[in-house]
Amino acid sequence: MEGLTIAVIGAGKIGSAIVRAIKTKYRNVNIIATARKDETLKSLRELNIESTKDNNYAVARSDVIILSVKPYHFPTVLRQVSIEAWRNKVVISIMAGIKLATLSNLLNGAEVFRAMPNINAIVGRSTTAIAENNGEKKDLVEEIFKALGNVYWLPEEYLDIWTALVGSGPAFIAEIIDALSLGAVASGMSREIAYSAVLDMISGTISMLKEGKIDHPMLLRDQVTTPAGTTIRGLMIMEAKGVKSALIETIEASYRRAVEIGNEIDRSIRNNSK
Ligand SMILES: NC(=O)c1ccc[n+]([C@@H]2O[C@H](COP(=O)([O-])OP(=O)(O)OC[C@H]3O[C@@H](n4cnc5c(N)ncnc54)[C@H](OP(=O)(O)O)[C@@H]3O)[C@@H](O)[C@H]2O)c1
Repeated sequence: MEGLTIAVIGAGKIGSAIVRAIKTKYRNVNIIATARKDETLKSLRELNIESTKDNNYAVARSDVIILSVKPYHFPTVLRQVSIEAWRNKVVISIMAGIKLATLSNLLNGAEVFRAMPNINAIVGRSTTAIAENNGEKKDLVEEIFKALGNVYWLPEEYLDIWTALVGSGPAFIAEIIDALSLGAVASGMSREIAYSAVLDMISGTISMLKEGKIDHPMLLRDQVTTPAGTTIRGLMIMEAKGVKSALIETIEASYRRAVEIGNEIDRSIRNNSK
């Protein structure tokens, strides 16, 4: 990692979290971050890194390029960077949906990887999947993402499911946390106490499942569910309102959208190249 230059193309919410994580863990890595708006560039400069609107410059000057624009902005980035600039670079896309085959076709001569981190990178707790790849620079890519948290290598066919479950997951969990807190508010507790209690309870529940070696969450549910008690009454409402099937469908719908985004980008790139 020593002396390496990494470009983060599109350093928005997740891109800037990656910049911060790499800067904290690897002090001798140079980072060039790009964005479009002056205000985004200004906040990137506050991280003490080089920032620019010039994607071609950033790609040409770097050894490793992380693509973190929204998928539908990727065709613009392709137009802004000369085809020669990608040659011999390690390019890691974290864009939802865009397939390795698409990236390899477009980024001439680059060693291409596809990864999916999540926003928990901000606190060093991302759970990142990297699509399996026999590329020479596997170890380097893993080292970069380890700065953000845990890393899993997975077959690429799982990346869109990962995007739904782990990429979008923090938003779903945040909704659930808010709903549980509101339930306590509806019952008369202050939001402040309820929110803090929910966070502690969830964190404790995760510890129970992990450290208590409980192999399936339903075993924990049954330990809590006393006959004719309070929990079964709550579970009956969850069942009647279809909470479990709603959550199953939440992940499935989000997965289908990741697949759709990949197909849309493929179509748009094919149409532009006609
Ligand atoms: N957010 C997440 O939790 C998360 C997790 C995993 C993966 N992802 C993936 O990461 C990507 C970014 O998501 P995000 O939530 O971070 O979005 P975001 O906050 O909107 O960041 C995207 C950044 O791209 C910049 N940008 C757009 N076009 C550009 C161009 N032509 N050249 C340079 N910069 C450009 C924007 O700059 P300006 O600010 O100047 O407009 C913006 O800062 C998406 O592909 C998403 O699928 C996101």
